[in-house]
Amino acid sequence: MRMMDEQPPSKRRKFNFTNVQFKDRDKDRDKVNKLREERKKLPIFPARSRLVQEVRKHDSVIVIGETGSGKTTQIPQYLLECGVHHGKLIAVTQPRRVAAITVSQRVAQEKNSEVGTLVGYCVRFDDMTTDSTKIKYMTDGMLLREAILDPLMNRYSVVILDEAHERTIHTDVLFGVVKAAQRNRKKKGLKPLKIIVMSATMDVDHFSTYFNQAPVLYLEGRQFPVQVLYCCEPQSDYLFTSLVTLFQIHREQPAGQDILIFLTGQEEIESAAKSIHDISRDMVGEAPPLVVCPLYAALPAPQQLKVFQPTPKGSRKVIVSTNIAETSVTIHGVKFVIDCGMVKAKVFNPHSGLDLLRVVRVSKAQALQRTGRAGREAAGSCYRIFTEKQFESLKDNTVPEIQRCNLSSVVLQMLALGISDIIKFDFMDKPSIESIVCALDNLILLGAIEKKDKIQLTPVGRKMSAFPLEPRLSKVILMAKEYHCLEEILSIVSLLSVDSILFTPHSKREEALAARKKFISSEGDSITLLNIYKAYKGVGGNKDWCRENFINMRNMKTALEVRRQLRDIVQRQQLPIQSCGQDTTAIRRCLSTGFFMNAAELQRTGDYITLSVRKTVSIHPSSALFQCKPAYVLYNELVQTSKCYMRDLTVVDPDWLSEAAPVLFKKKAAAASVT
Ligand code: CDP
Ligand code: MG
Repeated sequence: MRMMDEQPPSKRRKFNFTNVQFKDRDKDRDKVNKLREERKKLPIFPARSRLVQEVRKHDSVIVIGETGSGKTTQIPQYLLECGVHHGKLIAVTQPRRVAAITVSQRVAQEKNSEVGTLVGYCVRFDDMTTDSTKIKYMTDGMLLREAILDPLMNRYSVVILDEAHERTIHTDVLFGVVKAAQRNRKKKGLKPLKIIVMSATMDVDHFSTYFNQAPVLYLEGRQFPVQVLYCCEPQSDYLFTSLVTLFQIHREQPAGQDILIFLTGQEEIESAAKSIHDISRDMVGEAPPLVVCPLYAALPAPQQLKVFQPTPKGSRKVIVSTNIAETSVTIHGVKFVIDCGMVKAKVFNPHSGLDLLRVVRVSKAQALQRTGRAGREAAGSCYRIFTEKQFESLKDNTVPEIQRCNLSSVVLQMLALGISDIIKFDFMDKPSIESIVCALDNLILLGAIEKKDKIQLTPVGRKMSAFPLEPRLSKVILMAKEYHCLEEILSIVSLLSVDSILFTPHSKREEALAARKKFISSEGDSITLLNIYKAYKGVGGNKDWCRENFINMRNMKTALEVRRQLRDIVQRQQLPIQSCGQDTTAIRRCLSTGFFMNAAELQRTGDYITLSVRKTVSIHPSSALFQCKPAYVLYNELVQTSKCYMRDLTVVDPDWLSEAAPVLFKKKAAAASVT
């Protein structure tokens, strides 16, 4: 071996000390040992051998156990350790990206490995797996996409459908797809596919019946008593009451006992977090310092991780979360839960064909689950921001998403999976025929499917199904070729696919609007967003620039990442990425080809009416077009608060709409001339 000094000078490498990381093996070993001990203490540990036995014996098994008992992190490891996986992959599906990511990190640690080796994750726009991966945490949407290429799921020996009670559209379709894969593998004499369905709370009989009378395993959970406190009177402002309650608890209770507040969405949570922060600053000396942690699905992983860090001594942590904290993530130290009683949900009306995002009451099952979060480590309390009578009037269970959402996207995916008879598909709970027909109609208008002797994908539809996007967005990407504006469309679609890149704090609203004025386009929000994107790229993603212009840098970065991935798919499809330069009309025409179902016309009253189903809507106050009233607009989303608002608008010419969907608009025009 040659010593360093013997090397000729030209070959001598400079050491870059900042880039060298050293492993402290003793420390690592201590950590692994500690984790191993922790694993043994989990409530699931005594059930290990019985669980493995049941899975060996039966094709499908249902597991019920309280949040934190160890289902998500331990069961895949047990199966791996006992060789039940036969060398193939174990998939664990999660309805949310954040859960897939954080849990895989934890399990990788427990296995003393790096994420992406033995243990990995795969979520939309982010695949952290390699050939050596054996335990793969993934969103249910991702597994569904994989099934398009491999309906028998040959790479997997076990599929664990976790958080089954969430019943997202993807989970529900996945239930049927995985069940069919299991049956077909058996028929073909291939290695069996094991299915494990897990949850902290679910309608056990319903699930067991659906999965061919699967046995149910109940895990002994840790649950300490939780005192439930109801409001004496109904509250008109749940947000305000939640904050008042928080400070009531904060003043009276000793430090170290953390509080978890359930609210509904990102904006509400960010604004609540800020208020809490501001108020607590004025309370120095009166109460312990507060560490405020927002938590919602769109929050980037590093910020989410803050929630899991231990609270500094002498202070109190307040987690302000969406329903994400109901079951998917384990947070230590929570002693008090404040449940606002509401949740943000998509509600679809098949008669109108409209998908609405609105805040609705939780179900009893959800309220109970939220309450449980206060009693994981010791007795706790749950403050419900509603009355006992209101609780009694809640629905028992949440209606599965498949029965209340627009099905266009999932129907397209099902067709790509080769499922042509959607109505006869083996759903656990069937969506209404109306909403299936509505989705099919929409896909026909988009040119994605055609009806010959049976319904089938067109070549365009097949290409569309390759994008993890709503069909209207993937259609627009494909059409951009005609308008020579794919460069711009990729940016706009990415910006519309993430949470708002605009950051408008309540206290600095005027300042924020003034700073962003220079980007505003009279052609609407899509072009305004594009202007911001271009400016952001122009300054090289400068942090100060983002702050000065009130741009949410995190969401912008996510948009960039989404764009990169969309570009990969586009390149695989060999679509030319061209720029239309200043010709923003081309962009708006291109958007019309996918968004025509989301068009609205100005009325004499100053309101708008949607063209597809004639519903009265208004321009959202956050829109670039709020002050003006163009005759025709496209919207990306409807939000119901005091009124029904359109968000993310584009000004269009009505001729473009009839060009994009002649059948739809000719019919409308004919109907209008008759009346
Ligand atoms: O799935 P289930 O709710 O039954 O539990 P789990 O997610 O497997 O979590 C079991 C335990 O692992 C929790 O009680 C936490 O102590 C720990 N855990 C953690 O520390 N960090 C994570 N990201 C996930 C789990
Ligand atoms: Mg879990």
